[in-house]
Amino acid sequence: MGSLGFNCAVVVAMVLGLIVNVPELCNGGKTSTFVRKVEKTVDMPLDSDVFAVPSGYNAPQQVHLTQGDLVGKAVIVSWVTEDEPGLSVVHYWSEKSTQKKVAKGKFVTYRYFNYTSGFIHHCTIRGLEFNTKYYYEVGIGNTTRQFWFITPPEVGPDVPYTFGLIGDLGQSFDSNKTLTHYEMNPREGQTVLFVGDLSYADNYPNHDNVRWDTWGRFVERSTAYQPWIWTAGNHEIDFAPEIGETKPFKPYSHRYHVPYKASQSTSPFWYSIKRASAHIIVLSSYSAYGKYTPQYKWLEEELPKVNRTETPWLIVLMHSPWYNSYNYHYMEGETMRVMYEPWFVKYKVDVVFAGHVHAYERSERVSNVAYNVVNGLCTPVRDQSAPVYITIGDGGNLEGLATNMTYPQPEYSAYREASFGHAIFDIKNRTHAHYSWHRNQDGYAVEADSLWFFNRFWHPVDDSTSQTTN
Ligand SMILES: *[C@@H]1O[C@H](CO)[C@@H](O)[C@H](O)[C@H]1NC(C)=O
Ligand SMILES: *[C@@H]1O[C@H](CO)[C@@H](O)[C@H](O)[C@H]1NC(C)=O
Ligand SMILES: *[C@@H]1O[C@H](CO)[C@@H](O)[C@H](O)[C@H]1NC(C)=O
Ligand SMILES: *[C@@H]1O[C@H](CO)[C@@H](O)[C@H](O)[C@H]1NC(C)=O
Ligand SMILES: *[C@@H]1O[C@H](CO)[C@@H](O)[C@H](O)[C@H]1NC(C)=O
Ligand SMILES: *[C@@H]1O[C@H](CO)[C@@H](O)[C@H](O)[C@H]1NC(C)=O
Ligand SMILES: [Fe+2]
Repeated sequence: MGSLGFNCAVVVAMVLGLIVNVPELCNGGKTSTFVRKVEKTVDMPLDSDVFAVPSGYNAPQQVHLTQGDLVGKAVIVSWVTEDEPGLSVVHYWSEKSTQKKVAKGKFVTYRYFNYTSGFIHHCTIRGLEFNTKYYYEVGIGNTTRQFWFITPPEVGPDVPYTFGLIGDLGQSFDSNKTLTHYEMNPREGQTVLFVGDLSYADNYPNHDNVRWDTWGRFVERSTAYQPWIWTAGNHEIDFAPEIGETKPFKPYSHRYHVPYKASQSTSPFWYSIKRASAHIIVLSSYSAYGKYTPQYKWLEEELPKVNRTETPWLIVLMHSPWYNSYNYHYMEGETMRVMYEPWFVKYKVDVVFAGHVHAYERSERVSNVAYNVVNGLCTPVRDQSAPVYITIGDGGNLEGLATNMTYPQPEYSAYREASFGHAIFDIKNRTHAHYSWHRNQDGYAVEADSLWFFNRFWHPVDDSTSQTTN
């Protein structure tokens, strides 16, 4: 209780007889006054252009990429064929050569209530060169489709790299705007860090898995060309005993593979990768995380392994935010915060990205680790070893915006706004990263909120004063 509560300095100021700007002293940070047109968030109909099935017999669809190993020399290519299995192979060749190579994968299928999936292929291409453009072809057989991707530079401390941040995307008209704004952003993310809640198929009767397929086709225009790093959200659980579906994460785990074994994880729901100058840890808000659980033991061993000389930037992804001042999902992240926050401070995590709340919020660097139930110290305090917490669950899904905020704005909350959008985390070198959040209503280059991140390990000074919010 009370961990999110703050004393209001106004009372003190009034006792002292000061003339004060009441809202400023009382409020922690900034609540944006941006006014958007109120419109209903609705899913794009099944016959929308973005859901079109590619032409040709058994044509591969829903093509998507993710990192396939620990360091970025492998890629997992996944796609679906509907008519027959076809071959689970990928032909690929680097820009520098014309010699085609072939990687072999496997396909899986699953049933969900009365839905039967297509043939879902997963193929890991290994032994790639860093910093190289590769073309690849899937659907060898009746209909082939060609795409390309660029491998990251070799892991190292001063390698610049740009990550996009998207959460809670869904497949509404607003989702399409978010994806378009991400694609058109002149800062150009090279890889998407996706913080969970993909298709929202579970909002349909019997979790109609056809909406998993439409989502895969919708995002293909990005996922076929750059890796998306996946985090499991609550809309991936698909636990529905009322229709006999009792295996959590069934559709998600058949469709979206991740390289969890490369980081000694025993489950696809928590794992880590290194990419360029970043070490990225993905956690599961919906898997056990208490003491002695597999996720706890993995994270306990994982954090000391992070080598900030090699990867200065330590980024954590999870679905349910720990610091959230909206009246939605209030304190849902609290039990995980209690377990892991001391570690995040000890190991100086740079930034934690979460989704779940369908709005945007950025915290100050705060921690609330002094609180031990009986000591009364249940208030987050400024802490330069603590991460910045960013909620980016504003992808634009059919459930609509989270507009109801708590007042006064807590001191830990630096900026919050109920608009759809995406963010960019642009690593320049071991000390500096430029972060920006882009709302869908603005032009593609506009930064509605931005901050220079100073690395917690190499440049551990206060970066909270460098913000340039509009
Ligand atoms: C699944 O069941 C629902 C509800 O009974 C029905 O509307 C739908 O057409 C069925 N779908 C298939 C593929 O049988
Ligand atoms: C698909 O390819 C297989 C193997 O080459 C061939 O036997 C089959 O006739 C093709 N089907 C169609 C519809 O083209
Ligand atoms: C989705 O966005 C793309 C790119 O802006 C556009 O071409 C397409 O028509 C949009 N589709 C829908 C259904 O809004
Ligand atoms: C950390 O990484 C650096 C640079 O790659 C390397 O020289 C060093 O040995 C690593 N430290 C440990 C403990 O592995
Ligand atoms: C906002 O949330 C609070 C707390 O749940 C609730 O009491 C209030 O009625 C909500 N306001 C609106 C406008 O929905
Ligand atoms: C790191 O990047 C920042 C921002 O671009 C720049 O000001 C700084 O000089 C760079 N540091 C080094 C050592 O290159
Ligand atoms: Fe969620």
